[in-house]
Amino acid sequence: MADLWVKKSIEQLRTEAAESEHGLRKALGPIALISLGIGAIVGAGIFVLSGVAVQYTGPALVLSVLLSGVGCAFAGLCYAEFASTIPIAGSAYTYSYAAIGEFLAWIIGWDLILEYAVGATTVSIGWSGYMLSFLRTLHIPFPAELARSPWDPARMEDGTLVHSYFNLPAFLVVAVIAVLLILGIRESAKFNNIIVLVKVGVIIMFIAVGVLYVIRANWVPFLPANRGTFGDFGWSGVLRGSGIIFFAYIGFDAVSTAAQEARNPERDMPIGILGSLAISTVLYVAVVLVLTGITPFRRLNVPDPLAVAIDSTPAHWLAPIVKLGAILGTTAVILVMLLGQTRIFYTMAFDGLLPKGFSSIHPRFRTPYKSTALVGFFVALGGGLIPLRIVGELVSIGTLLAFTIVCGSVMVMRKKRPEIRRPFRTPMVWVVAPLGMIVCLAQMFGLPSDTWIRLFGWMAIGLIIYFSYSRHHSVLRNPPKPPRSAPTPTARIES
Ligand code: ALA
Repeated sequence: MADLWVKKSIEQLRTEAAESEHGLRKALGPIALISLGIGAIVGAGIFVLSGVAVQYTGPALVLSVLLSGVGCAFAGLCYAEFASTIPIAGSAYTYSYAAIGEFLAWIIGWDLILEYAVGATTVSIGWSGYMLSFLRTLHIPFPAELARSPWDPARMEDGTLVHSYFNLPAFLVVAVIAVLLILGIRESAKFNNIIVLVKVGVIIMFIAVGVLYVIRANWVPFLPANRGTFGDFGWSGVLRGSGIIFFAYIGFDAVSTAAQEARNPERDMPIGILGSLAISTVLYVAVVLVLTGITPFRRLNVPDPLAVAIDSTPAHWLAPIVKLGAILGTTAVILVMLLGQTRIFYTMAFDGLLPKGFSSIHPRFRTPYKSTALVGFFVALGGGLIPLRIVGELVSIGTLLAFTIVCGSVMVMRKKRPEIRRPFRTPMVWVVAPLGMIVCLAQMFGLPSDTWIRLFGWMAIGLIIYFSYSRHHSVLRNPPKPPRSAPTPTARIES
């Protein structure tokens, strides 16, 4: 069993990074990294899932946002230490390969599919909700049968249920983005900066205009009493709400996957991660206060809660702008997530844990076309078929698990390799890392039991693949015979 824990040494990881860095431009400074973070963070979570989470919390949703933000800040500090020490694209997967070993790295890599691929599915459903709402604004009809998951009938205003076969807009947006990614149209830092300015601008407008129409009575009772079951209002509702709204923070860790493209990763990784997290937290707190202040929270259980809320005020003109901001913003998040997923698959295939096809590059487009096509297909299909709530909660629980493991890994690394140079050190690591684990675990426990069952099911599939395929193909475990064209793991195996 001991060989489950073979590790990559930090020195080896740094060598591999240096070898694979040829051609990657080191162009990102602190502002670009913060912008990258906000580009990946602000999306369906605040624009859509705030309407789901508030059904468990009432106006106290702001407490869930704060709790979740604190958990992310602890995890972010741990990410920052790793990202500055091992500035490599594989993010949490790579950190755990170095800190704890291959088996845990696999678990994280498999788990990150929930964050990135299933995350992209979730955001595509959010995109679809806002797109359909925008089409309605323009009086362009769209068949209700092709607007939602077959397991998520829509309730009309007269109370009737309308069943749908497929969420076509969600499917199409992912398909188009996947094709663009295959053709090599990567999100450039400039394009990202523009989208970030638009969506942050829209959010600031929502706050600035909405605050004029807050009705204090909507905030009373601030924390509705629990209705007898766990998670149904009261403090347990706040916990459940934080597990759901946690989705809105996901993405700050995507900054760490750009480590090899940063000009000065040692200084700027922590700035990018913590800066984007801090700005998003401030925006979210203001958004949910305004959201619950301008309209009774029960009306927000819709695919486009921010637009519905602002539409309930005299500032109707702002609703289409909010919709456009959400459409544009979520498009960028889907792009970053699909890109992140294929990068992680690329790293895992390079390590032999996944078939080589996941790291094969198109000769002309120079993109991982096979893996992008495969990921794109399944993400699009998921967007077409699965209801938002189910995927949203699955992404949250999966990512919370990854954050918990990263917090644990930082402590393991401090004990096992105290001597390595850490340009950024998590302050008070023996307090911050355990608190990060506790807050993340608490949010996981707040999520419904069916989400846990899905997580276990997903992990069980991952274990079967690891033991039947990955461990037999691991490059670290079975060093290839030279010569090899890819960077050779001069594998120093630590155990
Ligand atoms: N935080 C990202 C979003 O809310 C995933 O869309």
